Amino acid sequence: MAGYVVVGTQWGDEGKGKVVDLLGKNVDMVVRFQGGNNAGHTVVVNGKKTILHLLPSGILNHNAWCIIGPGVVVNPFVLFEEVDLLESQGVLCDKIRISDRAHILMPYHIRLDELEESRDSKYRIGTTKNGIGPCYADKYTRVGLRMCDLKDWDVFCEKLEETLALKNLEITKVYGGEPFDFNAMKEQFASIRERILPMLCDATDVVNKALESDKVVLFEGAQANMLDINYGTYPFVTSSSPTAGGVLTGVGVGPRALDHIIGIVKAYSTRVGEGPFVTELLDETGENLRQKGAEFGATTGRPRRCGWLDLPVVKQAVRINGLTEVAITKIDVLSGLKEIPVCVAYEINGKQYDTVPASLKDYAAAKPVYKVFKGWEEDISNISKFEDLPETCQEYVKFIEEYTGTPVALVSVSPEREGNIILHNIF
Ligand code: GDP
Ligand code: IMO
Ligand code: MG
Repeated sequence: MAGYVVVGTQWGDEGKGKVVDLLGKNVDMVVRFQGGNNAGHTVVVNGKKTILHLLPSGILNHNAWCIIGPGVVVNPFVLFEEVDLLESQGVLCDKIRISDRAHILMPYHIRLDELEESRDSKYRIGTTKNGIGPCYADKYTRVGLRMCDLKDWDVFCEKLEETLALKNLEITKVYGGEPFDFNAMKEQFASIRERILPMLCDATDVVNKALESDKVVLFEGAQANMLDINYGTYPFVTSSSPTAGGVLTGVGVGPRALDHIIGIVKAYSTRVGEGPFVTELLDETGENLRQKGAEFGATTGRPRRCGWLDLPVVKQAVRINGLTEVAITKIDVLSGLKEIPVCVAYEINGKQYDTVPASLKDYAAAKPVYKVFKGWEEDISNISKFEDLPETCQEYVKFIEEYTGTPVALVSVSPEREGNIILHNIF
């Protein structure tokens, strides 16, 4: 078996898309296992930028099958927009398959997400407003519609009518919002049904058979450990499990299928949306990181909050995911800084911790304990050998390896597919 997993170790946007695309040239199948089009994964090839939301980032490598697994919530209208855009640019999209068990993200999920987010509350999450939370909520309260429901049109319409009546009550009575018309929504789905049916499959069977016949399968995480529903800064999280554990439940493969679990570590920290962020820089240094790192959301365009690298956060991801390697990205963005502080522990009420507490009240009291590294002046974005990096930059990388106890397999130094230093050839 040869199963690879790529997961985010921070708050998302670490550069997962870039690494998946890079690995993609050697794999037979790329599989999304959770999340939906809240993801924004950027791939840059020969200066051309492609942002993927629902489609696996293997799509630019035509040899790989692209599978959307059972654990993903799929907005079919967004899916086809993405496919149409790529096809108009000459990208072949004939190797995309969708699990018939995946839940359909419905128009009312988006409206409910928008309405929930419009409330004036300190617990407002700052979601992407793509309907992710409401769709997963329906899945777990067992009123969701699944892709397989589209196969039997009468069943689909019956379920839709019943669910929509309830959703319209919530939309109008709780939030004073505009209800949906059943017939109009039925028509909307009738218009895409014929296109989606041939793309459906039993993805669990397809992926397991690929693994059994020694194909290389890459599982692409969206979001990241600190946005995980169980281990993130709840409630400021997403509604799925973006971890290696999420692969098992979100695709239906056994734990022994995972050979390499690669955590992507951005060389500093960013976060989009609300929620605690211990190393956040609210000053000019934070603004400089945002500008230099082009830290604006790939999905919503929102400015990302920026701060220093938080290693207790990364260490938590190492443990929860059982990382076998890490890939460090965007280290080029740190060039030109005189000093680079890295958070190595939290001080909470006079005691030091290297773990993230469950209670947001405790986490709000956490002060970062910094180890300060010397910076480097040079532009490193064209370097391809580790020993050619400035010594202070090498020290920064080695410290991450030492702190996390996990080998650094790759250092990414530019957004381009080729902009990498490869230290361990698992790629
Ligand atoms: P993802 O959600 O984890 O796939 O990451 P995003 O695509 O949302 O954000 C990462 C951003 O950083 C994208 O704009 C990438 O093109 C860019 N990027 C990735 N790796 C590097 C790198 O090593 N250096 C620089 N400067 N940019 C990078
Ligand atoms: P990728 O895959 C960064 C954040 C949102 C919000 C919270 C919940 O590109 O790394 P949701 O819409 O999921 O209910 O929002 O999670 N969020 C992300 N932040 N990168 C992402 O994906 C994200 N997907 C969701 O900003 O704080
Ligand atoms: Mg992103």
